[in-house]
Order: sequence, then C-alpha cells, then structure tokens
Amino acid sequence: MKEINVAVTGGAGQIAYSLLPRLISGETFGSDTKVNLRLIEIPQVVDKLQGTIMELIDCGFEQTGELIATSDIKEGVKDADWILLVGSIPRGIVIDGKKIEERSDLLKINGGIFTDQGSAIGKLAKSDAKILVVGNPANTNALIGMHSANNSSQQWFAMTALDANRAKAQLAEKAAVEISSIKNMIIWGNHSPTMYPDPYNATINGVSAAEVINDNLWLEDSYLPLVQQRGKAVIDARGASSAASAANAAIDTVKAVINPTKEGDCFSAAVVSDGSYGIPEGLIFGFPLRTNSTGKIEIIQGIELNEFAQTKIKVTTEELESEREAVSDLID
Ligand code: NAD
Ligand code: LMR
Repeated sequence: MKEINVAVTGGAGQIAYSLLPRLISGETFGSDTKVNLRLIEIPQVVDKLQGTIMELIDCGFEQTGELIATSDIKEGVKDADWILLVGSIPRGIVIDGKKIEERSDLLKINGGIFTDQGSAIGKLAKSDAKILVVGNPANTNALIGMHSANNSSQQWFAMTALDANRAKAQLAEKAAVEISSIKNMIIWGNHSPTMYPDPYNATINGVSAAEVINDNLWLEDSYLPLVQQRGKAVIDARGASSAASAANAAIDTVKAVINPTKEGDCFSAAVVSDGSYGIPEGLIFGFPLRTNSTGKIEIIQGIELNEFAQTKIKVTTEELESEREAVSDLID
C-alpha cells in the first residue's frame, strides 16, 4: 500500500468526529492507500483524543495507519501530505459572556491561530502539501496561514464545497431533478453571506439552471439568500454549527483535488487569486476549479458573468478586501 500523512486540527471537535473515519476508510484517498493520521488539539483537550483514537481503531479499516494525538503543531504537520485546518471557534458559542454571532468576531479570535500553524506547515510539511482551511472565517484564515507558511510549492484552499452542495440541493429541489443532474456549481468569493452561488452557469442536464427554472425572482430573492444564510439557519435550528455536512464537504474537496475533474464540470473551493476575472491578486477567493489530468489545479477561465453576477462578485470581493485589511498586521 502507498502511505500518506494527514493532519487534522480540531481533532476533538464536532466536524472532526464525522470527518476522521472517512479519512482512514479508503473512501477518500483510495483503498490502496494507508493513512497515518495526526490529530491536533489544544493542550486542554488533547487527552480526549485517546478516546477518538480508540474508536478509529475499532472501525477496523484496512487503510488505517499510525494514529497520533498531539498538541504540538510541529509534530502534527511534519511531513504531512494533507493538512485539514478545522480547529477554531465556531459562531454561536459564548465567550466572556458575549455570544459570538458574526464572522468579524471570529476573525479576531481565530485569525491568530493560523499564523503559528501556517509557519509550521511552511517549514515542516511536504513541499507539495495541500492545505484545506475549514475553520471560519475560512478564506481569511487561509490567507493568514498561507502568508505565514511562505512556501509557494504548497497549495492552500478554503472550503466552499458545503456552499456548493447546499446550492445544488436547493436547485435540485426546485427543479424536481436528481442532484446528479446538476453540474458546474460555482461559489464565487467568500464563504460568508456575501458568497455568490451562480445559478446562471450551473447546469441541469447540460442546460443553464436559471433557464430550466425560469424564475429569476425566485433565484435572486429567495435562492441566493437561502444558500448564503444556510449556515446560520443550521446554527439556529441545531444550536451548533453544521458538522456532518461540513465534514462531508471537506471529504468532497479532498476527492475533487486529487481526482481529475470530469469534462463539463468544476469544483468549488477558494484559492489564491492570480487576477482571474479581475479579482485582486492575493485574495483567497472562491473560483470554479478543475484538476487536470496531470493533477494540477486550474482556475477555469472564460465563464460568462452577467450584470447580476458582476454586482454580486463585487460585493464579496470588497468584503474579502476589508477582511484582508483587518488582519493586515498578521500578513505583513
Ligand atoms: P468545535 O468547537 O466542535 O471544534 C473545534 C475544535 O477545535 C475544538 O475541539 C477546539 O478545542 C479545537 N481548536 C481550537 N483551537 C485550536 C488550535 N489552535 N489547534 C487545534 N485545535 C484547536 O467546532 P466545529 O463545529 O468542529 O467547527 C470548527 C470550525 O469550522 C468553526 O470555525 C466553524 O465555524 C467552521 N465551519 C466551517 C464550515 C465551512 O463550510 N467552511 C462549515 C462548518 C463549520
Ligand atoms: C456554515 O456555513 O455552516 C459554517 O460556516 C458555520 C457558520 O458559521 O455559518
């Protein structure tokens, strides 16, 4: 069997609980790949990971390699092929008597985590390591981590696959079609309420979803806010942020990155902008991506953006620029 090293921060959290078994079951990295898993937690929680490790052993997967729990980020990310940065504070919890409601609150609390983690990854993880940031605010955390890593041969992603899955599910329900008939679902911009889930370029059985649904009022006034605010709706209903669906989206992202993308489709994740579509260089921005046959990740070019799309993309770009400004001291 091949062997890979995968590090996950926030190993004792809600998302990790759904995520970890699927990383070592053969489903994600293939049945021919043994996965050595490093679970990383803060010192106060790291002991609990022994229970998680017992459960992972008890799953009895053939692809399970070495399982380690650590609070030392350097030990966790050394020689890692993949690093999933999940560990951070979710919205909805109370800190010092204040309920954390907005992503801007998270920016201050969580941003600092990503400097040390980024720096360890840049120095110690494999030169071709892939890093997926799940912890919010995911795009700007990835920006901070990538700057601190300062290693251009590694590749950073922020997760927007959950938004894409939500966006597909709502289109499928409205059009009364199977989810598998929906392709090319692009989430432009930030993983936040300003994201732009693009129904004009998404396709249903090869035809523009907007054309099939033929109800622009619904698309622009109901569908968009529903997808944009779905994270909050889950928090309000569940009393905790989405975990099973977030873990599922993380698995989807890893698979999309390591397997070639089918013709006529794309996958959604935020990566560093190279100026494509006029997005300022350096922002971590949700783009339409494809993995080509040599394993390279490309931003798909030439997607048409109507006036509505351009207005929405401007809003999410401005939000990401203001987040970048707010953390300027962490990315100098
Ligand atoms: P959780 O509170 O259940 O777990 C987070 C874990 O991270 C905790 O166990 C905590 O001890 C740990 N942690 C905190 N700081 C750490 C550090 N420096 N190093 C290692 N571990 C650390 O939260 P959760 O529900 O698992 O969510 C985790 C994050 O994912 C939150 O920020 C949440 O908002 C975000 N999220 C993102 C998406 C997305 O689509 N991008 C979706 C859902 C949730
Ligand atoms: C989500 O989209 O479910 C997460 O990012 C949680 C949140 O705070 O919205």
